[in-house]
Amino acid sequence: MIVTPWEVSGHVDYEKLIMEFGTSHITKGLLERIEKAAGETHFMLDRKVFFSHRDLDWLLDKYEKGEEFVLYTGRGPSGDTHLGHLLPWVFTKWLQDKFDVELYFQITDDEKFVVKENMELSETTRLGYDNALDVIALGFDPDKTFIFVDTDYIKSLYKIALRVAKHTTFSTAKAVFGLDNSTNIGMSFWPAVQAAPCFLPSVLKYRNVPVLIPAAIDQDPYWRITRDVAPKLGYYKPAAIHSTFLPGLQGPESKMSSSKPETTIFTTDTPEDVKKKITRAFSGGGATIKEHKEKGGNPDIDVACQYLYQMFEPDSNKIKELFDGYRSGAVSTGDVKALLIKKVTDFLTEHQKKREQAKKKLDKFILKD
Ligand code: TRP
Repeated sequence: MIVTPWEVSGHVDYEKLIMEFGTSHITKGLLERIEKAAGETHFMLDRKVFFSHRDLDWLLDKYEKGEEFVLYTGRGPSGDTHLGHLLPWVFTKWLQDKFDVELYFQITDDEKFVVKENMELSETTRLGYDNALDVIALGFDPDKTFIFVDTDYIKSLYKIALRVAKHTTFSTAKAVFGLDNSTNIGMSFWPAVQAAPCFLPSVLKYRNVPVLIPAAIDQDPYWRITRDVAPKLGYYKPAAIHSTFLPGLQGPESKMSSSKPETTIFTTDTPEDVKKKITRAFSGGGATIKEHKEKGGNPDIDVACQYLYQMFEPDSNKIKELFDGYRSGAVSTGDVKALLIKKVTDFLTEHQKKREQAKKKLDKFILKD
């Protein structure tokens, strides 16, 4: 298994990641605390789609004492937005609604330019503003959401990034990110730029502000470095809550990837694309209809079942019914795929409408120097 910010491959063992990264489980006690503070729970928490954290208990202590926190998350614009990207953002939106807090959203055109061999900066910047439409389309609060594309906000980030960089050695960056002597030097400075928004709210508000980062677990190496540096700069360590990955359409051992369109459903896909892609998706069912009826299937590896579980079917009773039926063979692969096609098509029809409207709202959300 490889899980770094720039590569995820193999069978991802999430328990092992908690051990290796040194993060914490989201315990039952913590779930109850979140539910109490938020007024309700979220199915992504109950189902362990968000499964790990750093200092979430500390953040809740602060919140309960009346100290408001802010949210920070982001996007690396290397292609069109797909459903895997939306998963943590949907949860982030819930957090914003329930806690009524600000969100800082970093779009890293600079990162994708230095990391991706074949991408021009003009292209990553263009994609950055295009991806921002997907963020806005999810309905974040325009008065409390600040989206910035790095190269157009770097003046505000640079002084913070410099202070982080000064306290981060090359050997730390090498060890945490797997850099070597052939890595371009843009990448060795880059982690300081992703750390900067953790302290930006404190800089902007002239006081220490607790920050919670909802993001997939592959981003955790950044927070490790940032948390080491924070006390040296006089700031709070950022807290984090980590999600699993939505698998690629070709099977549970894969992540959705923008560079492989057949593995992925993009937010701009047509109903025909959605139907074609989901119909072809990896199935955990029996080899034939007869075999499936006799022996049943495995919803834990079935891609359509997993998309419903992780993102598209919030009703846990329905999930249980569906999974039980699938295991017994009463529910077929075709049934599950038809249900998912309907859910995804409905979602995208609505999303695409809002995405169009977002073009007019962009200015309200974007921070520039
Ligand atoms: N590095 C992330 C990516 O490639 C983008 C990003 C920047 C981000 N800041 C973040 C993601 C904070 C999550 C949280 O997608």
